[in-house]
Amino acid sequence: MIVPSIFALAAFAKTASAAAAASTGFTAPAPAPTSESPFYVGPANNTITNTPIVPGKVFDRFIQIWLENTDFDSAASQPVFQSLAAEGITLTGYYGVTHPSEPNYLAAVGGDFFGLAEDSLEYIPTNMSTVVDLLDQKNISWATYQENMPTDAYEGYNFTNSDNYTYYVRKHNPLVIYESVANISTRAARIRNFNDFAVDVGNDSLSQWIFITPNLRDDGHDTTVGYAASWLTYWLLPLLNDTSFNTNSTLILLTFDENETYTIGNNVFSILLGGVIPAAMKNTTDPTFYTHYSTLSTVENNWDLGNLGRQDTNKTVANVFEIVANITSYQNNNLTGSSASLPQLNITGTIPGTVEP
Ligand SMILES: *[C@@H]1O[C@H](CO)[C@@H](O)[C@H](O)[C@H]1NC(C)=O
Ligand SMILES: *[C@@H]1O[C@H](CO)[C@@H](O)[C@H](O)[C@H]1NC(C)=O
Ligand SMILES: *[C@@H]1O[C@H](CO)[C@@H](O)[C@H](O)[C@H]1NC(C)=O
Ligand SMILES: *[C@@H]1O[C@H](CO)[C@@H](O)[C@H](O)[C@H]1NC(C)=O
Ligand SMILES: *[C@@H]1O[C@H](CO)[C@@H](O)[C@H](O)[C@H]1NC(C)=O
Ligand SMILES: *[C@@H]1O[C@H](CO)[C@@H](O)[C@H](O)[C@H]1NC(C)=O
Ligand SMILES: *[C@@H]1O[C@H](CO)[C@@H](O)[C@H](O)[C@H]1NC(C)=O
Ligand SMILES: *[C@@H]1O[C@H](CO)[C@@H](O)[C@H](O)[C@H]1NC(C)=O
Ligand SMILES: *[C@@H]1O[C@H](CO)[C@@H](O)[C@H](O)[C@H]1NC(C)=O
Ligand SMILES: *[C@@H]1O[C@H](CO)[C@@H](O)[C@H](O)[C@H]1NC(C)=O
Ligand SMILES: *[C@@H]1O[C@H](CO)[C@@H](O)[C@H](O)[C@H]1NC(C)=O
Ligand SMILES: *[C@@H]1O[C@H](CO)[C@@H](O)[C@H](O)[C@H]1NC(C)=O
Repeated sequence: MIVPSIFALAAFAKTASAAAAASTGFTAPAPAPTSESPFYVGPANNTITNTPIVPGKVFDRFIQIWLENTDFDSAASQPVFQSLAAEGITLTGYYGVTHPSEPNYLAAVGGDFFGLAEDSLEYIPTNMSTVVDLLDQKNISWATYQENMPTDAYEGYNFTNSDNYTYYVRKHNPLVIYESVANISTRAARIRNFNDFAVDVGNDSLSQWIFITPNLRDDGHDTTVGYAASWLTYWLLPLLNDTSFNTNSTLILLTFDENETYTIGNNVFSILLGGVIPAAMKNTTDPTFYTHYSTLSTVENNWDLGNLGRQDTNKTVANVFEIVANITSYQNNNLTGSSASLPQLNITGTIPGTVEP
């Protein structure tokens, strides 16, 4: 039982997610995703201060939400993912870049996983740039929200709540691993927890680039994809209707870090959602070959950010999401998720790099 005593279960039982939750064991930590909760541990910090909105060519806000270790078909069979797919564009050719978790998270913000092949305690040295450097150069605000991270930019390897369950892990918090972010106090303040999220969205002060990591149960890692679906029903569905989260210029990516079965490639179920999806594109699929590097190339293209010069510039693995490329006339490589010549993205431990040569 993870519900703080101050919240009556009865209140939650009235919500739409109660039926779904009952079958998976999911229990809501608060009445709504915009409510603070002692379950999220540290109290909310001061409201974040953002620079004025920098318009992008297609979107002004990009939110990515990462779930864990689920094969494409397992997610596709869930009713919640099906109803979300009806509201967005399903990316059938989206791939994780390696195994296990941590290198995938590193890759999504740093453009490489530097040879890392495990979920170890890492500190990427300050001279390694990330997407934060690109965003800061253009005064584009950013933040990451990590469920159950006890305090902002917490440096520990994991955190165990008072119920003795370890909900938070550093390996799923990509920016804290880069010292070029975690060691600069103004940047560290943007590595935030879910109490901060509740306050920030309540104050309509969300940033323009956002990375969301649910805890080890809510992201499906320690549970099932059905449990993650219950969390999405509780957390994401109401936020999609909240204009402090999802504006008409917001693009949201819901994805998984990696496919569960190493031997069959690394295709992960991913959906683009948000106010920028034209009505005519809802409930469609885009078969283009994308990877986690596409999240970098897409924001770089949207805001003319320049690049990190790593796999974000590798034309083989960094196609720009077509919802953007079609408007900016960016030329993708024409590979789809079913092309015969896709690179192997399920290999691990064999690629040299500066973290693990
Ligand atoms: C970054 O610094 C480390 C030492 O902390 C050094 O080994 C490495 O070569 C440097 N990398 C770059 C790209 O400058
Ligand atoms: C709030 O921010 C300050 C300064 O960044 C930090 O020292 C403190 O730990 C933060 N508190 C929480 C609860 O995150
Ligand atoms: C949390 O960290 C401790 C050591 O710091 C380790 O023994 C334990 O296995 C970790 N638990 C999880 C779930 O990562
Ligand atoms: C957590 O573990 C400690 C030490 O094993 C134990 O004393 C305590 O009762 C446990 N708390 C809960 C809520 O299970
Ligand atoms: C979101 O808004 C739509 C349309 O107004 C409504 O049908 C739906 O029930 C709302 N969803 C939630 C979770 O509030
Ligand atoms: C988007 O929303 C803003 C205000 O929130 C409004 O001024 C603008 O007209 C809307 N644009 C479209 C295309 O609906
Ligand atoms: C990766 O997936 C391919 C099929 O796409 C399979 O042939 C290969 O054995 C897998 N590699 C590993 C290391 O599991
Ligand atoms: C994992 O990804 C491969 C593509 O590489 C896909 O064919 C397979 O269906 C996925 N696994 C499952 C069980 O869906
Ligand atoms: C979405 O498309 C599928 C077929 O791809 C169809 O079965 C379903 O009814 C559509 N859903 C909505 C809400 O239009
Ligand atoms: C991009 O343009 C192509 C060619 O016109 C079209 O088939 C596709 O549906 C478009 N995709 C998106 C996501 O707009
Ligand atoms: C992709 O296809 C388009 C349209 O057929 C073509 O113009 C373009 O050159 C192709 N791009 C590559 C990299 O092959
Ligand atoms: C680009 O990606 C492909 C596929 O992963 C890889 O084989 C190639 O070495 C990469 N190119 C560079 C310059 O890293």
